[in-house]
Amino acid sequence: MNILVLNGSPKREKSDVMHITRAFLDGMRDAGEQNIAEIHVIDRHIEPCTGCFACMHNGGTCIHDDDMRAILEQILDSDLLLFSFPLYCYGMPAPLKGLIDRILPLSSMAMQKVGDHYRHVGQRDFSRLHYLMISGCGFPNSMHNFEAAVLQFSLLFPHGRTIVTVPESPMFSAPEAEPVTAPRLALVREAGRQYAKTFAIDEALLQQICSPMIPDDVYTAIVNGGVKPN
Ligand SMILES: Cc1cc2nc3c(=O)[nH]c(=O)nc-3n(C[C@H](O)[C@H](O)[C@H](O)COP(=O)(O)O)c2cc1C
Repeated sequence: MNILVLNGSPKREKSDVMHITRAFLDGMRDAGEQNIAEIHVIDRHIEPCTGCFACMHNGGTCIHDDDMRAILEQILDSDLLLFSFPLYCYGMPAPLKGLIDRILPLSSMAMQKVGDHYRHVGQRDFSRLHYLMISGCGFPNSMHNFEAAVLQFSLLFPHGRTIVTVPESPMFSAPEAEPVTAPRLALVREAGRQYAKTFAIDEALLQQICSPMIPDDVYTAIVNGGVKPN
């Protein structure tokens, strides 16, 4: 399948979260051939949306002639959008949010009621798209941490969406933490294999992946300079 990875970490390849994303993609490749394109969002010229709504009235052309024009076509050619990002202030990093704002040209101004709420009617066909969020964070657990980002992603992409959140993610960039990160990345790779076949991850596996790798007090002590991992 065509996979577009949107790496929202300003650390590019050195991103903690990209360790998780790469393991997931390895699993997808285990299951079959994949056509993977990767964008480091920080490197692209993406002007902020001005809120003029021109794109929603004129058939979908933004007033900005920047990298987003090509990215929108890449999105429409994809089967899967994989958003890989660190949690920043309980949400996604600003450049990635800026890119998502600029997806507006795919929608028209027309609104429709869906159940008890409203959504815009699309003006391009993106019904084949699936959406995957892989996010990591620096705190030792996910409580009072990932909720806003998960809700935002769920509202943005109500259908065909899967969400993976991993606490303690700076450990993925620490070679001394490999005894605990390697088994976790093996689980992530298994999740990638499953996802490539079904666009879903077994709930029990997902819960394992999203749980802390080491007890929160141990992690906190390490971060605070008290203890080194074995
Ligand atoms: C500006 C900023 C805001 C952050 N906000 C949070 C946060 O709200 N919750 C959290 O657990 N970690 C937070 N972190 C920590 C990062 O999520 C964490 O270091 C992550 O592993 C970085 O991933 P990356 O290397 O892929 O960019 C923040 C880091 C920065 C730089």
